[in-house]
Amino acid sequence: MIARTNHADPRQLLEERARSLMLPIWWIDGAGSVVSKAAGWNALEPWLHAPALTESMMAAAASCGDESEVCELSPGCWLVVLPANQNRSDDHRCVTLVFTEEFLRSPLFASICRSGGASEVIMRAALGPIVRSGRTEAEHLAKVLAWMQRDLVEVVHGAHAIENFSKQLVDTYEQMSLLYRIAECMNGLEDPRGFVHMACDLLQDTLEFRWIGIRFTSLRTLGRGMTNELILSGEIPCSHTRFDRLAGELALMPGIDDRPIILEPHAHELAALVNSETFVNPLICNNNLAGLLLAGNKGGEDPDISSVDMQLVSATADYVGAFVHNSSLYSEQRTMFLGIVRALSASIDAKDRYTRGHSERVAHLATELALATGFTEEQAERVRLAGILHDMGKIGVPEAVLLKPGKLTDEEFDAIKRHPTIGYNILKDIEPLEDVLPGVLYHHERWDGRGYPHGLRGANIPLLGRILAVADAFDAMSSDRAYRPRIAREKVLMEMRSGAGTQWDAELVKAFLKLDFSKYDSMIDRHAAQSAHAA
Ligand SMILES: [Fe+2]
Repeated sequence: MIARTNHADPRQLLEERARSLMLPIWWIDGAGSVVSKAAGWNALEPWLHAPALTESMMAAAASCGDESEVCELSPGCWLVVLPANQNRSDDHRCVTLVFTEEFLRSPLFASICRSGGASEVIMRAALGPIVRSGRTEAEHLAKVLAWMQRDLVEVVHGAHAIENFSKQLVDTYEQMSLLYRIAECMNGLEDPRGFVHMACDLLQDTLEFRWIGIRFTSLRTLGRGMTNELILSGEIPCSHTRFDRLAGELALMPGIDDRPIILEPHAHELAALVNSETFVNPLICNNNLAGLLLAGNKGGEDPDISSVDMQLVSATADYVGAFVHNSSLYSEQRTMFLGIVRALSASIDAKDRYTRGHSERVAHLATELALATGFTEEQAERVRLAGILHDMGKIGVPEAVLLKPGKLTDEEFDAIKRHPTIGYNILKDIEPLEDVLPGVLYHHERWDGRGYPHGLRGANIPLLGRILAVADAFDAMSSDRAYRPRIAREKVLMEMRSGAGTQWDAELVKAFLKLDFSKYDSMIDRHAAQSAHAA
């Protein structure tokens, strides 16, 4: 934030400068009355504030025009009157007094002393240092003061203009920054609720509203439970339930989707509930009303809702509307994509009844292992996908080989060994699956380099391939196969332990053995029941 300063009044600056020139300053209004007496003169003030002096000045000033003027009060004493400041709304004029030695011996001087209760001798001595040479000097001083006044007004106005410009710059920066930050988060299509919360929080941080809220309608495309939901940032000064009900009713009001409106507390129930002007902006999603963005209880220096507030709230509403639309499209695409992936995986299972559910179980185990070894939820979801698709290539292996109960010939085993490469080739051109390909291609590699298809060794095997290898082997041993029944859990675990560091990554096996297999076991039972039913 740029620091905002308070600038002095040009009048005050003029008084300070005039005092340094030994010129007392009075201010008179348009009617000629003294509104501010010369200040800061200590011992001279009884004389400067004397009623006789004030009266004489007022009488003389009343006869002065609008221009800078020097008029004689008495011989050797002149009143210098500066014009009212043309750039300001007030009509106050600045007045100063210039006198010669002659004046200090005049009857007017004596009468001023008397009316102020001041000694002539003392005042004469005190005023000595500010005695001038004559009318010519008075006229020069009048010019100097007039220039000074004009320059000070311009300087102060310039300072105000810079301050306002700085403020606008700060505001604009904050607005741009808000919109940039919102736009930056618009890629996170998987989490629309998180995005909406973030947009409300950012808006509330930037503007002075005590609360910002979005009340969604029942628009079907909103999905993911956001329909009719109220998302709030800040504190509303009333019950959430009542606010939610009134905001929901407002969203049903005819014409509410036309344009933003400001609700007044005396005219609308919701604004009365929060006891504040409330700004309401429709949230349009693919030409349908998806909700309302509401903002109220504005605080700060200016409690009125400004055009900047409205613009920012509207821009944010546009972003949220576009985001919600994109998010629903993304969600539809994702659902469709996962449906296709599951259909592909089911087609492999259908080909080999002995491996029914194998892909799903491997996906489950690999996901659990990934989470146990520090993967994020998002990364683990990709591991799940790799698990579902890892045996995709079996679609290219003859059923006679897949279902053969006895020992395989070398040719048959070669056909089996081709399935990682076949799966890779089937999926390699599908861009959203790019990151799962290493899992498909390398899930039969071994830590000791004796695996296939490339015989990679140790950490050269991509991690996804190593994770799937552990999950795949565990499930292969734990389920019935064409050539043998399932192996008991204890024996499977023993095999895993003995293969750690030769067949599999030892670190992964260590983490795998600590997993809870209860969900896996119920999957095995479910798939076995389905197989029995199908048979
Ligand atoms: Fe496989």
